Amino acid sequence: MRVLHAAAEIFPLAKTGGLADVLGALPQALLEAGADVRVILPGLPAIKNGVERKRLVCEIGAIFGAGKVSLLLGQMPMPGKSPGTSLPVYVIDAPYLYQRAGNPYLALDGSEWPDNLQRFALLGWVAAHLAAGELDADWRPDVLHAHDWHAAMACAYLKVFPASTVATVFTVHNLAYQGLFDEADFHMLGLPARLLTPAGLEFHAQISFMKAGLTYAHRVTTVSPNYATEMATEEFGCGLDGVVRARGRDVSGILNGVDGTVWNPESDAGIAATYSPSALGGKLRCKAALQTSMGLKADPGAQLFAVVSRLTHQKGLDLVLAALPELLAAGGQLAVQGSGDAALEAAFTAAAASHPGRVAVRLGYDEAFAHQMMAGADAVLVPSRFEPCGLTQLYALRYGAVPVVRRVGGLVDTVVDASVQALARDEATGFMFDAATPAALAAALRQTANAYAKPKLWRQLMLRGMAQRFSWGDAAAQYLSLYGEAVQAATAMR
Ligand code: ADP
Ligand code: GLC
Repeated sequence: MRVLHAAAEIFPLAKTGGLADVLGALPQALLEAGADVRVILPGLPAIKNGVERKRLVCEIGAIFGAGKVSLLLGQMPMPGKSPGTSLPVYVIDAPYLYQRAGNPYLALDGSEWPDNLQRFALLGWVAAHLAAGELDADWRPDVLHAHDWHAAMACAYLKVFPASTVATVFTVHNLAYQGLFDEADFHMLGLPARLLTPAGLEFHAQISFMKAGLTYAHRVTTVSPNYATEMATEEFGCGLDGVVRARGRDVSGILNGVDGTVWNPESDAGIAATYSPSALGGKLRCKAALQTSMGLKADPGAQLFAVVSRLTHQKGLDLVLAALPELLAAGGQLAVQGSGDAALEAAFTAAAASHPGRVAVRLGYDEAFAHQMMAGADAVLVPSRFEPCGLTQLYALRYGAVPVVRRVGGLVDTVVDASVQALARDEATGFMFDAATPAALAAALRQTANAYAKPKLWRQLMLRGMAQRFSWGDAAAQYLSLYGEAVQAATAMR
């Protein structure tokens, strides 16, 4: 099976969130399962610089504006991965669209790049033409797997391609980011006007890139089974639940995994001391190190809660601020690492100033420090309003930090609440609360503090969590079987 992944991010080269972690692990897991996998990415500075041994595949000329576009093929640097495997990566070299400082989607001042329509239409266009066999005479995929709205337009371009035989799979990592653009710019896409209808790309008088994937891909997936169900409801559908429901059984959820070559407390070189389920001593040293580096009181007995997150409405961190008095009253400490919303950044900074030694905040993005947070924390808070999968609770589990999560999305599929029954069966791995309210979180925090006061019970939770295996190998097997279905669907539709 030949598979081309199209996406805007890939760990470790360009990352704003979990999407990059998925691209950093899933193609590799598919390679290990025997598939012939390649990835196509926009030539953002970090990607163009990071992809090794690049050579020119073809000049594409000027599309989406006046600049020159060419397609390069190189190799992903893969330190720590299985020797002998290499991941070929196509890079779309279009300096006029991609060669700029800032993140993949936003300028340095936080506004969206004004030419995002062209920037991500180009990703879709090139991915589609490569998949259709137009750009690289030496390789073409059986399946094009596009991730999030950034790559979704590939499905629209293939839809109108005269003799396309390639199957398409579209994965939703976050339905809230949809890639909406002014209808008046539709002419720039080079697509027939018949696609700009509510049954196609139109969404309330705008162009929706997300709808290209949801509507035209042969199969649609998201990153947990529970979110697949939620996406079809008004509460979580972000206005697209009708589109999701219309696809019926073409939509499914495949749970993300943990890349054990990156996230493993037994071998992590970036934490104060390594540790394992049978030798947990190192975790205490990691906790002490985290307290020191965050300026928290050096107190091995204080329950240390951590947050590693984008600071956005999605993540429900305003609930943490509101429930902070209860957390502190129970003797807890809070360490936050995050960046995003200015009001949340200011509120956490103010909370740290009001509670020196007990609340500490590190604003900004720091991959290495995220490992130290997971290793040093007793518990990790993920009180999301919605969460397609969530990776931080998976990393927390692996690092023996007990997750406290809202009963939503992929959090439901990955954490087992410490109910009386689950504890009796030794299945519990964390704490869950229902309502997105400070009171509900506070109640879960009290439960967490009570459990922490019982060392035997706490150790049971930690060890059960550390024993969880969210394997990319399992996910890869499920994707391969779905690719088979997509190929059949594409053949049947010809
Ligand atoms: P999302 O993709 O919605 O942000 P996930 O839980 O799937 O949520 O993935 C978040 C990823 O981003 C994890 O790898 C997490 O460690 C990382 N992350 C989030 N915020 C930060 C930060 N401030 N510094 C370092 N890593 C972060
Ligand atoms: C998105 C989601 C997150 C998911 C990640 C990777 O960013 O918000 O829940 O884990 O994608 O699939």
